[in-house]
Amino acid sequence: RVIVIDYGGQYNQLVARRVRENNVYCEIYSYKTPLEQIKKMNPKGIILTGGPNSVYEENAASAPRELFEWGIPILGLCYGAQLMMHILGGKVERANEKEFGKTHMALDQTKNPLFAEVPKESVVWMSHNDYVTKLAPGFSVIAHTDNCPNAAFAREDQKLYGFQFHPEVLHSEYGRQMLANFVLRICGCSGDWRMDDFADQTIASLRRKIGDGKVLCGLSGGVDSSVAAVLLSKAIGRQLTCVFVDHGLLRKDEGDQVEAVFGPEGPYELNFVRVNAKDRFYEKLAGVEEPERKRKIIGEEFIRVFEAEAKKIGRVDYLVQGTIYPDVVESGLGGESATIKSHHNVGGLPDYVDFKEIVEPLRDLFKDEVRKVGLHLGIPEELVMRQPFPGPGLGIRIIGAITEEKVRIVQEADAIYREEMEKAGLNRTAGQYFAALTNMRSVGVMGDERTYDYAIALRAVNTVDFMTADVVEIPYEVLKKVTTRIINEVNHVNRVFYDITSKPPGTIEFE
Ligand code: XMP
Repeated sequence: RVIVIDYGGQYNQLVARRVRENNVYCEIYSYKTPLEQIKKMNPKGIILTGGPNSVYEENAASAPRELFEWGIPILGLCYGAQLMMHILGGKVERANEKEFGKTHMALDQTKNPLFAEVPKESVVWMSHNDYVTKLAPGFSVIAHTDNCPNAAFAREDQKLYGFQFHPEVLHSEYGRQMLANFVLRICGCSGDWRMDDFADQTIASLRRKIGDGKVLCGLSGGVDSSVAAVLLSKAIGRQLTCVFVDHGLLRKDEGDQVEAVFGPEGPYELNFVRVNAKDRFYEKLAGVEEPERKRKIIGEEFIRVFEAEAKKIGRVDYLVQGTIYPDVVESGLGGESATIKSHHNVGGLPDYVDFKEIVEPLRDLFKDEVRKVGLHLGIPEELVMRQPFPGPGLGIRIIGAITEEKVRIVQEADAIYREEMEKAGLNRTAGQYFAALTNMRSVGVMGDERTYDYAIALRAVNTVDFMTADVVEIPYEVLKKVTTRIINEVNHVNRVFYDITSKPPGTIEFE
């Protein structure tokens, strides 16, 4: 394995991901982790990440000198590289000109194994205020840019390397190749680790950590909490209790699907509690039109229901959260400085459930990696490949007050829409797509009768980061087919609209 030592930079998880992409196992540890502990893990190499500090500041994140005398390959990135120089007797200073963005870099040593299959000139991503003005004894320059004479340097006999740029971001054209070279050629990793191994290793380490402790998991039926639950179930079986709150705002048949997988008929060993809390939610939501109030009510009621179940279980040792890496970033807690984040689907849990510690087995993974683990664990594909579904569920896809009938309408329309999108092979093209119930009723004619019914809005978007989204251009035939079916099959709908608003100005959800 390779260990990434975290100095609080913004791309740290990407570094780990790039290592894993080479089928090399990788773990991230804070720079505060004692060197002894790291040595015990017997890594084949170390990568020091970037970070927000300057090495010459008081209290700047540091590293023990022995780290560099250990004798295994070490690659420092940005801050990590500066730190290596600072400790080993080089000099780091504030640059006259801050370098930020894509920069041309030229290799001074094209034959260096770190640069195998990298052309002499390429673009790298720079983002730094400080730079190395003098290399430590024994080091030589292996690449430079116009503003940065020491863009990459090495001390070959000790296998110590430093990059001022960020090879982990895709803007660095050959960055991936350089990292691959480091882990495969320089550290000598065999590159035969698979995401499958992540599952096995995680199960084993969960088992060690938890022992005979009791564990509680809030299961939403989404990808992340499902994969987390299965990992736990494989690790500790019936010491795990999963609580699934059905708030009556799930998609059609979704509650039953979750129960089929995780309930007593399903393949996993665990205690499954399904709370059918529909009536409670509908009662609290009756007549409430204001979107933020609806969200609040759903969130609070969710907590209350979960709390009541948790009380029945009593004290647990661990609470499982399906937090994945993008959640950590989103909540501004990234890596080193990370404290605990309560997942937005089960917001605020840690405050009221009596437990000792939180376990977040997916904390370092990206969504696509979580999916790979899920498939490896044999979780049904429709669950693993599920599109995102918001915690408040259909509650924010029904504009205005929620009633049982409106929920039924939107569930049925949505099921038809999803079925037709799948038939047309568009389910993997669109990142997120769903039907919503506008609060509008209008006049129509059906048979010879006048109707005065609801309008359904269809939406389909693609998004990389959920901050912006583009509308998917669904072929007319598909839209027409969906429209005809919804009007014919769903009572009290007489019009269907397709929403072609991007985000911004629209949001993905309607409320
Ligand atoms: P918006 O509507 O803000 O949605 O453009 C962006 C993404 O976030 C999802 N979403 C939520 N997810 N709890 C969640 O777990 C929520 O309260 C929530 N609100 C929106 C939405 O489905 C989309 O993917």
